Amino acid sequence: MRTLIYFDNAATTMQKPPAVADAVVCGMQTFGGVGRGVHPASLAAGRAVFDARRQVANLLGASSASCVSFALNATMALNIALQGLAEPGCTLLTTAASHNSVLRPLFRLRDEQGCAVKIAPINPDGSLDFGAYERMLAEGVVRYVAATHASNLTGDVYDVARMARLAHDYGALFILDAAQTAGAIPLSQKEMGADVLCFTGHKSLFGPQGTGGLCVAPHLEVRPLLEGGSGTHTYDERHPLFMPEALEAGTVNAHGLAGLAAGVGFIEEEGVAVIHEKVLKLTSTFEEGAQSIEGLRVLGGHGGIGRTGVVAVDVEGVDSALLGDALARDFGICTRAGAHCAPLMHRSLGTEDKGAVRFSFSYFNTEEEIEKGIYALEESVKALR
Ligand code: ALA
Repeated sequence: MRTLIYFDNAATTMQKPPAVADAVVCGMQTFGGVGRGVHPASLAAGRAVFDARRQVANLLGASSASCVSFALNATMALNIALQGLAEPGCTLLTTAASHNSVLRPLFRLRDEQGCAVKIAPINPDGSLDFGAYERMLAEGVVRYVAATHASNLTGDVYDVARMARLAHDYGALFILDAAQTAGAIPLSQKEMGADVLCFTGHKSLFGPQGTGGLCVAPHLEVRPLLEGGSGTHTYDERHPLFMPEALEAGTVNAHGLAGLAAGVGFIEEEGVAVIHEKVLKLTSTFEEGAQSIEGLRVLGGHGGIGRTGVVAVDVEGVDSALLGDALARDFGICTRAGAHCAPLMHRSLGTEDKGAVRFSFSYFNTEEEIEKGIYALEESVKALR
């Protein structure tokens, strides 16, 4: 079988540190139910889940392990945060850089709870229109801001510390979608001033799919989205409100979380800054090579205070879906083509009709793969023109 070159890391990382799979397998062979008993198998699972909480809290700058509740992914975490905080009729604000994991829960709140949703525009170069953002806040009605840390389409990292400061100045809480940045760039929930930080485990944290969660600042109470077994307070009619179990009805994915802890452990050992620097170098080399192709436009790249390992391209006269297919079929290169669940971002950048082909890199990619990627892109564009 031909070796794949995997450049779809913004969707999910495929190459994981070997310790991740080892930890999952070990968990599957040894774990009982988490928090549902005091026998050794149950305690082993409980310890693994606590370890994952502690490591995630430490890496993401949350206040403590008990501020971290686990969920299936960032989408679920964002749904929990938005539905667990917003009151009927309240006003929420996001930006056009948001993924559907933010936009759709907001539109549901609008349609079913009478909430108002404001959307701060993104400029054609990918940057946030900070003036419009502040004007919307200054109207004094916004209760919650939910914003992405980095665009999953362009990789632009937004100045979320400034956004959170402004939100707080005008009396709003700040919910951060860190799906694209947790594990990819150095960050701290406390330093950024995010009241809630939502993350996924399966991208740059190198965990298995089906892991993720939310870090909730200690001053906040998020209403549970799901009610059910908690292992404690069994005779209470309602799910307990104390963290982290408040947001974790039912048995958590302890097997996956053991893998997540191993992924985070790897990041701690290597250093997130070292990981980010290597990915940035690969990204710049790829971007420089791609820019030499006539008629190719790299989306964004000037919009924020940094970037993740993403290069999304739009090539004049070439259909994005066909380009993505050609890269996979002829060169074994895995990218993501289309609309990337980011409808308003594509609209802002003028690629609503055509979409784009997104290359996204990880710590496990090599310079050699980047060179092959540039060659494959040149050849595929030539063949499709
Ligand atoms: N949100 C993921 C992506 O951007 C799935 O591809």
